[in-house]
Amino acid sequence: MKKILITGGAGFIGSHVVRRFVNTYSNYQIVNLDKLTYAGNLENLRDVEQAPSYKFVKGDIVDAEFINKLFTDENFDAVIHLAAESHVDRSIANPIEFVMTNVVGTVNLLNAARNSWKGDYDKKRFYHVSTDEVYGTLGEGTEMFTEQTAYDPHSPYSASKASSDHFVRAYHDTYGMDCVISNCSNNYGSFHFPEKLIPLSINNIKNNKPIPIYGKGENIRDWLWVEDHARAIDVIFHKAKTGSTYNIGGHNEWTNIDLIRTLCKVMDKKLGRPEGTSAQLITFVTDRAGHDLRYAIDATKLKNDLGWEPSLQFEEGLEKTVDWYLANEEWLNNVTSGNYQHYYEDQYQNR
Ligand code: NAD
Ligand code: TYD
Repeated sequence: MKKILITGGAGFIGSHVVRRFVNTYSNYQIVNLDKLTYAGNLENLRDVEQAPSYKFVKGDIVDAEFINKLFTDENFDAVIHLAAESHVDRSIANPIEFVMTNVVGTVNLLNAARNSWKGDYDKKRFYHVSTDEVYGTLGEGTEMFTEQTAYDPHSPYSASKASSDHFVRAYHDTYGMDCVISNCSNNYGSFHFPEKLIPLSINNIKNNKPIPIYGKGENIRDWLWVEDHARAIDVIFHKAKTGSTYNIGGHNEWTNIDLIRTLCKVMDKKLGRPEGTSAQLITFVTDRAGHDLRYAIDATKLKNDLGWEPSLQFEEGLEKTVDWYLANEEWLNNVTSGNYQHYYEDQYQNR
């Protein structure tokens, strides 16, 4: 029996990780700690919330006293840390919140784990989930980010994630804590909050609203299906050597404009609209400040060491994603109207 703290489990990727762990490992107790910010939605976990091995705790990783007490009360064996402020545009508008949650929150968790484990890291693990954005930007060539690429973050979001990665490595190197880090490329799939490019565009196309493309749409991202990310986290959590880092990516680079044109075709087909209808909604808008040109991940180490590879071709994953959003209209409407924020009060507070 292992007790695992998963932070940020009510968010996009975290909910897939919680679901995978609850459904796969009946011998684990999973505690999902989440502040339920605008990005946290317990409806994402409706299918596992009654599982006896699952528990939800509402709380803020920035609150050190609360975090220390939680670790004392629960005696965790491991942490999988996903809680974060995750949207680049919000970090440009309000950097301090990113410093608090992503940096201070991470250090609070590291401290609490250190106090709880008291230097004995046998069968203990702190897994930090990070992003490829810490590496900065690539040119238009074929170069890719490897685990050796020097950190060069440009946005307040990526700077805060880079800082948290440094703290995690410092706790490994200084205190001998068993820590692992993974840096993943852009995810897509179900339960993705519709402020990010793909779900925002699906929602706008559905509602005949403009699709905002920053600059000329020439920026390149490497897209990975979220369930493949959750599977990579599972493999790394169980098999990586202490102190190791793994890059995770889809070998799947798209310019934003090509991606959105492809999405428009899928949406036309699914909505029974004449081909070309959705593409008319594409609208070029002012570019994001400091917009990184290209991300691309070399995930060779993960394949060679631990045998992980992406399972889905992008076209198939994109179609699955569109199908999910069209079949889950209520989820999308609740998220866009803000109704999901009442789910906690209804389902949890009076238990
Ligand atoms: P998300 O924004 O969908 O979810 C973040 C979750 O963290 C939410 O449930 C939110 O309520 C919770 N949270 C925020 N602040 C908190 C706090 N102070 N205390 C407790 N909980 C808090 O994010 P996501 O896209 O699922 O990303 C999860 C992690 O994966 C992040 O660490 C992110 O940096 C990393 N990541 C994301 C991507 C991506 O494409 N989305 C790619 C690589 C890495
Ligand atoms: P996003 O989904 O915000 O992820 P990230 O910034 O972490 O890569 O954006 C993906 C790409 O799409 C990025 O190059 C910015 C661009 N983008 C748009 O062109 N329009 C939009 O409305 C959004 C949200 C993003």
